[in-house]
Amino acid sequence: MPTPTESHSPAPAEAGTPVIEFTDVEKRFGDNVVLKDLNFSVARGERVTLIGPSGSGKTTILRLVMTLEELTGGYIHIDGEPLTHEQRGGKRVPVSKKQQKKLRTRIGMVFQQFNLFPNMTVLENIIEAPVHVLGQSKQEAVQKAKSLLEQVGLPDKADAHPTSLSGGQQQRVAIARALAMDPEILLLDEVTSALDPEVVGDVLNILREVADTTNVTMLIVTHEMGFARDVSHKVMMFDGGRVVEEGHPETIFTAPEHERTQKFLGAVLGH
Ligand SMILES: Nc1ncnc2c1ncn2[C@@H]1O[C@H](COP(=O)(O)OP(=O)(O)OP(=O)(O)O)[C@@H](O)[C@H]1O
Ligand SMILES: [Mg+2]
Repeated sequence: MPTPTESHSPAPAEAGTPVIEFTDVEKRFGDNVVLKDLNFSVARGERVTLIGPSGSGKTTILRLVMTLEELTGGYIHIDGEPLTHEQRGGKRVPVSKKQQKKLRTRIGMVFQQFNLFPNMTVLENIIEAPVHVLGQSKQEAVQKAKSLLEQVGLPDKADAHPTSLSGGQQQRVAIARALAMDPEILLLDEVTSALDPEVVGDVLNILREVADTTNVTMLIVTHEMGFARDVSHKVMMFDGGRVVEEGHPETIFTAPEHERTQKFLGAVLGH
């Protein structure tokens, strides 16, 4: 067994209410059961990377947390509060839209394809949700947006339109837009997969800094195994809608226990 090396910060204690908790989660699209009896939890400040073959449901998990997909069975709790359904009188009933909206404001997501609003400037993209969802004053939101643009290295792009930016620049704006909401949870779905190789490092460095300087809980899907190893406290290997294996990144990447994980990593890491 190799000695696990430290990530940037120690793994948060497992004590206390998990920030994200999946209980017996099922997700089906028609007859296609993508996730089945899925149980896992993520502690406050914990950074977890999901790995697994194409179609194993990684994106679906993030989209469920973001409430972009409807949960077909089980429960997801955020900070102990039901996100979509709860048990009442022995029955599984949907929570109110208001409750769902409230919880969703604590969650930010960055997508592979950036998903910026094309008809808005960079600044407008970033202040949209803080103003309209959190009710911040425009002045406050603009000030924060400008400091975030500074942080992601784009201080002079506030008035640009997304279409005039490179992929790497658009993704940096998308990160700034997510951070503008001060999320407790940040969901990252293959955020560098659509980028030219030479800008991947810049985007990952911005995210490393976010990991180093905040306590934001992260659920990460990435093919960048070096990044996953550096920033995550835990790696979870999925296949067939279930967790095959989970553990410290150093252990999973160098000495995975399950044959399925060994095969997958062998293919991904090219050995
Ligand atoms: N909107 C949808 N309608 C029908 N089926 C869907 C939908 N979204 C996802 N699926 C199916 O759910 C399964 C899991 O998809 P998902 O995108 O979560 O996989 P993934 O692990 O993110 O894969 P990849 O590594 O290729 O991104 C696949 O079989 C996919 O076809
Ligand atoms: Mg995916």
